[in-house]
Amino acid sequence: MKVLHVAAEIYPLVKTGGLADIVGALPQALISAGADVRLMLPGLPAIVQGVEVQSVVCVVGAIFGAGQVTIRIGKVVGSGVDAYIIDAPYLYKRPGSPYQGLDGNEWSDNVQRFALLGWAAAHLAAGDFDPSWTPDVLHAHDWHAAMACAYTACRPVTTSSTVFTVHNLAYQGVFPVDDFHLLHLPSRMMVPGGLEYHGQFSFMKAGLKYAHRVTTVSPNYAREIATDEFGCGLDGVIRARGAAVSGILNGVDGEVWNPTTDCFIAANYSADQFDGKAICKAALQLEMGLHSDPLAPLFSVVSRLTSQKGLDLLLTALPGLMEDARTAGTQLVIQGNGDPVLEAAFAGAAKAYPGRVAVRVGYDEPLAHRIIAGADAMVVPSRFEPCGLTQLYALRYGTVPIVRRVGGLADTVMDATHEAMQADTATGFMFGHATPAALGLALDHAVQNYRNPAAWSRLIQRGMAQDFSWSASAQQYLALYQEVIRSR
Ligand code: ADP
Ligand code: GLC
Repeated sequence: MKVLHVAAEIYPLVKTGGLADIVGALPQALISAGADVRLMLPGLPAIVQGVEVQSVVCVVGAIFGAGQVTIRIGKVVGSGVDAYIIDAPYLYKRPGSPYQGLDGNEWSDNVQRFALLGWAAAHLAAGDFDPSWTPDVLHAHDWHAAMACAYTACRPVTTSSTVFTVHNLAYQGVFPVDDFHLLHLPSRMMVPGGLEYHGQFSFMKAGLKYAHRVTTVSPNYAREIATDEFGCGLDGVIRARGAAVSGILNGVDGEVWNPTTDCFIAANYSADQFDGKAICKAALQLEMGLHSDPLAPLFSVVSRLTSQKGLDLLLTALPGLMEDARTAGTQLVIQGNGDPVLEAAFAGAAKAYPGRVAVRVGYDEPLAHRIIAGADAMVVPSRFEPCGLTQLYALRYGTVPIVRRVGGLADTVMDATHEAMQADTATGFMFGHATPAALGLALDHAVQNYRNPAAWSRLIQRGMAQDFSWSASAQQYLALYQEVIRSR
């Protein structure tokens, strides 16, 4: 089976969040399971640099405002996965993130930049660019690639089946109606039953409407996005797709996130040989300027700082955690970037509690590994969370997750209720309401368990024994691909 994955990010070349980790790992997992998988990626500077031995597949010429578009093929450094690169310097050769300039503003021509990604993928899938390789399935990720489903649907004959995966419904790619002509799509698609969305048009909606199958990254989030509370205005569209929408849980890339081989951390360790964990904790306390104290419960956060992640709840709960006698000595390390208000507030907290709260504002992959390895617990208090990866990495590193009961967090963590502790099934701590008080109770519960070394050790051992490798999820994707091909 030939499958084309289309996305704007890929670890380790371009990453703003978990999407990149998935696009880096899932194709490899599918290849191991026997599929013939290639990628299509925009020619962002790091992607052009990180894809080797590029040869020209097809010269497209001028389109979407770019004077010259060329499709090349090469291999992603490291994984060796074949990738088609859309070489369009006018649209993609820029510093900054794939979505924003260095000033933090969205690129003003994102409509063209990501229409081109979808358009090129649809043409490749139809055999227009590389007749030697036409995929059976075109698999588009998030709004950036969603237009591939619309461009495929508007062809008189569609060859490939399309699958669209929602990694985060909150980011939708909505543009003014005046830009519709830039898409080169028939006006019959600019209707409420098509791309039209409250007087504008939406790339996310294009994926949801026109893909043959829609998936999201956990079964629980698949149920949630069909509700008003989590549907971000698109729950009606999602409900209308009925059984065409399903959830497949993300996996963990065991090559990148593995405490027995991780070269970023102070000492390697495993569930059986756990001594290295204490070395990682001591090294982290030293690096971050925290008091050197092997017995202090060390909580951690590695996250984008956005309202999604609920870290304002942690800020409000923090004085209680720091000052209450029940949680005396607790430490917190936070690594994140995003909302300047949250960045400043956490920097203020570090000043208020020197030696006990440490903050690193910025993006730093090796530090994320050192934090996840060195901390005792990882806090993920999200308001919504399609899957969440840091709690999965934490489980693998013997770092106990404390999460809100939402989205993929609810699918992947087993709450340490009295019953679960008795039954030996608990792997972490959960809270329900998105309030500082509810989070505070969960943090307190975690500290009390931490002070019971036998109970804490069982939590760690069960967490490390969980299997979140890609193999099971890759099989589910293959079954979905087979089902969609058969049904058409
Ligand atoms: P999301 O995709 O919503 O940001 P996930 O939990 O799925 O959330 O994935 C986040 C990914 O980004 C993880 O790999 C995490 O380690 C990483 N990450 C988040 N913030 C930072 C940061 N400041 N520095 C390094 N890595 C980060
Ligand atoms: C999104 C979601 C996150 C998910 C990631 C990868 O960024 O916010 O929950 O883990 O995509 O699918």
